[in-house]
Amino acid sequence: MNIAILSANPKLYSTQRLVEAIENNGHTAIVINHTKCSLIMQKGKPSIEYNGQILSDIDAVIPRIGASVTFFGAAVIRQFETMKIFTTLSSISLVRSRDKLRSLQVLSKVGLGIPKSVFAKDPDDDEIKHLISSVGGAPIVLKRLEGTQGVGVVLAETIKAAKSMIQTFSGMKENIIIQEFIEEADGADIRVLIVDGKIIGSMERKGDEDEFRSNLHRGGTARKIELTEKEKRVAIEAAKSLNLKIAGVDLLRSKRGALIIEVNSSPGIEGIEKTTGLDIANNIVEYIEHGVKNKKRTKNKDL
Ligand SMILES: Nc1ncnc2c1ncn2[C@@H]1O[C@H](COP(=O)(O)OP(=O)(O)O)[C@@H](O)[C@H]1O
Ligand SMILES: [Mg+2]
Repeated sequence: MNIAILSANPKLYSTQRLVEAIENNGHTAIVINHTKCSLIMQKGKPSIEYNGQILSDIDAVIPRIGASVTFFGAAVIRQFETMKIFTTLSSISLVRSRDKLRSLQVLSKVGLGIPKSVFAKDPDDDEIKHLISSVGGAPIVLKRLEGTQGVGVVLAETIKAAKSMIQTFSGMKENIIIQEFIEEADGADIRVLIVDGKIIGSMERKGDEDEFRSNLHRGGTARKIELTEKEKRVAIEAAKSLNLKIAGVDLLRSKRGALIIEVNSSPGIEGIEKTTGLDIANNIVEYIEHGVKNKKRTKNKDL
């Protein structure tokens, strides 16, 4: 098979490991910088031009779309969908999972545990006070809707701080979610890596001593852990609810059980492979082989 990896950077660990796994399984890997693709729409024959050539003979794509190019990346995936090419991530699932508010709405609807969260437009002083108390009072967490790698997530420790931060974000026309702070998580979260609806690996990440965010990009450290049966069910259900075949589900361990904080649609594989020693890339290729063989083509009625 010819398997394309949509990646803006061929040097990234995840991209390189996927190339390796594709080739080890006897296929051909093509790294396509999606930000350099032109999408061609014309009567009955959608196509993609890349490096001055029309792409052809691609059997499957693995999108690895960075947060800064979600809109364009989703358009490229959608184009592959119109060309009836198998993709490990649908355009609609990418867009949905990148929006923290929309994801929380979906997770809330299906009945999964999440930190209580509120979203409001330009609240005045009294409303702000009410919103803060409705998520349990200070400290609270504020999140930009499309932040990633811990950037755009802040902890407001007092009501005073929370009020001024909410007003600042509001003044900057920045949409934010106000969220209950899960103190007992103690600066740690759990990343569960799912491929084709199955749990492949999991790790706990912990931030520096003076950091409540556990993101590895913020200097967090990771270790392998075992999940409880309940945590496994919750993680699988979360990925399923957002229709993600490949997902990095992030959980906080709280007094009331596992709470989902986010579900990543292009999870990095470096941290989890190095922490667990697992071959995640190979699992992804096996999923594609199975998916393409069973003609699980992307349904493009939902464009
Ligand atoms: N409600 C919360 N309570 C406690 N810690 C949180 C909460 N939300 C996020 N965190 C911490 O902050 C980190 C980053 O938050 P997250 O929502 O995953 O944003 P990002 O998309 O930037 O990674 C999490 O990994 C977790 O360690
Ligand atoms: Mg995160």
